[in-house]
Amino acid sequence: MTSENVHNFLRRHGMHPEAIDMAACCAVFQKEMQKGLMGETSTLMMIPSYVSPEREVPRDMPTIVLDAGGTNLRMGLCRFCEGGAELSQVRTLPMPGTKESMDADRFVAALADLTEPFLAASHRLGFCFSFPAEITPRLDGIVLGFNKEVAVSGAQGLHLCQALSDVLVSRGHQPLQYALINDTVAALMGGYGATDPAAYDGYIGFILGTGTNCCYTEYMENIPKLPPLAAHTMVVNMEAGGYGLFPTGTFDHQIDARSGNPGEHLYEKMVSGGYFGDIALETLKGAAAEGLLTGIAPRKLGMKDVCAYLEQPDGNSPIAKFCGNVEEADTVYTILDLLLERAAKMVAVNLTAILLQSDMGKRPTRPACIVVEGSTFQKAVVYQRKIYFYMRVLAEDTYGRYFRFRSFSDNNLKGAAVAALLKQDAGSAALNQ
Ligand code: BGC
Repeated sequence: MTSENVHNFLRRHGMHPEAIDMAACCAVFQKEMQKGLMGETSTLMMIPSYVSPEREVPRDMPTIVLDAGGTNLRMGLCRFCEGGAELSQVRTLPMPGTKESMDADRFVAALADLTEPFLAASHRLGFCFSFPAEITPRLDGIVLGFNKEVAVSGAQGLHLCQALSDVLVSRGHQPLQYALINDTVAALMGGYGATDPAAYDGYIGFILGTGTNCCYTEYMENIPKLPPLAAHTMVVNMEAGGYGLFPTGTFDHQIDARSGNPGEHLYEKMVSGGYFGDIALETLKGAAAEGLLTGIAPRKLGMKDVCAYLEQPDGNSPIAKFCGNVEEADTVYTILDLLLERAAKMVAVNLTAILLQSDMGKRPTRPACIVVEGSTFQKAVVYQRKIYFYMRVLAEDTYGRYFRFRSFSDNNLKGAAVAALLKQDAGSAALNQ
């Protein structure tokens, strides 16, 4: 099997990285951001967060922190002191709705059970919520729906923190003072709190884990869909995973059709850890169906398996089962490598479009700070290397935009506390006008 046949197989199915013309895709992506900011129909929701990294974080005020993600639910207590943020009593549990499906009432009751033991220490809650939610000026989150295969029915339209507070009040507790933010916003706020803002020309929060998303600080005058507010800037949660204008191919369509939210979050399904193993498996099966591979398809593949194979094409990997003979190992490797190239190019387009839209990072000595979180980015080193490479090509070499990737421990929990504490602060009154 020549390598050209492998390339042609991916081209025929619209899965080849060549399908992503990065500069052209970047212009389309930025236009879609602008439509979302204007309130026009767009696959990018561009959700205002009503938080802004502009004030100092109050000290010595314990805050309950909750971090609800696609796989885990983490919680604990956070307090800011001289040396920075301190976390205590941190617990990690499976996210309700992942092991078994449930309705919204049961979901809120499960959160109330988990929150109750912390109420002796604080009634302030910072809630990092990794799902689409419209944020109210009072920092509650109106659930727009669950994704990442979390099964909670009837949650759309729920004012999540108020519902949680009401359940706690019905159990004899005081109401909560809450702030709900998206996980990208938590990443950005946590990163802002942990760095010297003078060193950076602005911040981007970027998550690449089970799902993917970005947020960034936008000037108020660039958010025409909001009424005039006193703040100069606001963090905007793009819900970037929802972007629907990248070219898609045969195997993307298959994964989308059998997902829990067909037709939605198309970009997320092409690049994030929750779906990449499935894309790889379907593409390899497609290659087998066309006679390019003669081995046996494994039942399941994860992002972990793909990245491990690309680091070290190991005969014991479940992926190796596809190879009917030694030469086919090259076919498998090339397909996986090109699929990951395609994903890295799309990620670079997304991040560069933000640098251009927010006009960040024009000087190499004052780059934009991309605060990155998520198990996929952290653990999939081969993917990370490709993202760096395409960021260099697109952001730096094509557009002269400079950036640094930074990560911080427990950033979601700390960032959620920052948001709750800044809401408490008198300054946030300006945002509640
Ligand atoms: C959710 C976003 C979240 C991202 C990363 C997506 O599936 O819609 O709200 O920020 O995953 O966790």
